[in-house]
Amino acid sequence: MTKGKGQKAKVGRRRGSNAPKTAKETFEPQIDVTIAGVRFANPVMTASGTFGYGQEYAKVIDLNRLGAICVKGISAEPMAGNPPPRIYETDSGMLNAIGLQNVGAKRFLTEKLPFLRTLQARCIVNVFGYSTEDYVRCIEILNGGDGIHAYELNISCPNTRCGGMVYGNDPRLTEEVVAASKKAARFPVIVKLSPNVTDITATARASEAAGADALSLVNTFVGMAIDVEAQAPRISNLTAGLSGPAIKPVAVRMVYQTYQAVKIPIIGIGGIASAADALEFILAGACAVQVGTANFYAPETPLRVAEGIEEYCRRKSVHLLQLVGKIHQVKAAGETH
Ligand SMILES: Cc1cc2nc3c(=O)[nH]c(=O)nc-3n(C[C@H](O)[C@H](O)[C@H](O)COP(=O)(O)O)c2cc1C
Repeated sequence: MTKGKGQKAKVGRRRGSNAPKTAKETFEPQIDVTIAGVRFANPVMTASGTFGYGQEYAKVIDLNRLGAICVKGISAEPMAGNPPPRIYETDSGMLNAIGLQNVGAKRFLTEKLPFLRTLQARCIVNVFGYSTEDYVRCIEILNGGDGIHAYELNISCPNTRCGGMVYGNDPRLTEEVVAASKKAARFPVIVKLSPNVTDITATARASEAAGADALSLVNTFVGMAIDVEAQAPRISNLTAGLSGPAIKPVAVRMVYQTYQAVKIPIIGIGGIASAADALEFILAGACAVQVGTANFYAPETPLRVAEGIEEYCRRKSVHLLQLVGKIHQVKAAGETH
């Protein structure tokens, strides 16, 4: 940029270009993170169900710059999902009831994993089932795949054997499915917690006790929307999972509480659309984050979030891990009004 007439150059106040750089100017922040022995080049991952199997986005963003891709939930057998309408936009969020549509574990290995294996981004496979045996069977099939770095157990599923009781709402069922999955798994197990509970620390502790290598939280909140003219539900399934910016404050609170309750690493999820959003989760106790709903309207978000975290660390002269859980407590938490 050329200076206009009358603009004075600030001579003498700036250090000469040959002056040695200060420690702050040369500081190179480390934003890589290792979880359960797996190194991620940066702490930003795409959330399951919002980024397909990765390849769908190959022409849209540089996948090699992602910390990890968490693929759509995989079950032992393929699933068709729910009939439409299964997505509805809400204020600051969206409702979805896709119904866990997926290609099944065998086709995932032959059709999807070969591409994911070519990437520098780590590959996390989200796994679900309707009985503990389902989870184990799915993991046993996936164990045969090279290029998987970790499993993420989606425990927001009803256990059909226990009258539809949702795994992630019950610490005893959580412990059962995590212990069995961990025993079967060839790769580290991240347990993805359901937020539809009174006390998130109960299922967090149960997962840790059962051998989970890490936790990711949160999954979607059960919600509903009604078309008043038609007097009908907006989603064919009636209830659906709420995600997006609307859930972020609740998710941050849950990460904060979980960080106080367990020792294993935490991956924060819920309404992240900017580096500042991600940093809220990190300061609350997460060492990595996932971006979900934002991928639908701004697929470059995960890359922007990673760049923003690096820029923040440089500006503050800190490495990422120095920020984890480092929220300054102004006063004891408790009273909200
Ligand atoms: C359309 C859609 C599909 C999803 N599918 C899955 C899934 O298969 N497995 C899973 O564990 N979570 C699934 N999720 C939950 C997300 O991974 C994430 O936990 C949640 O959306 C909150 O993050 P966000 O607010 O950034 O979207 C899905 C979310 C959406 C919006």
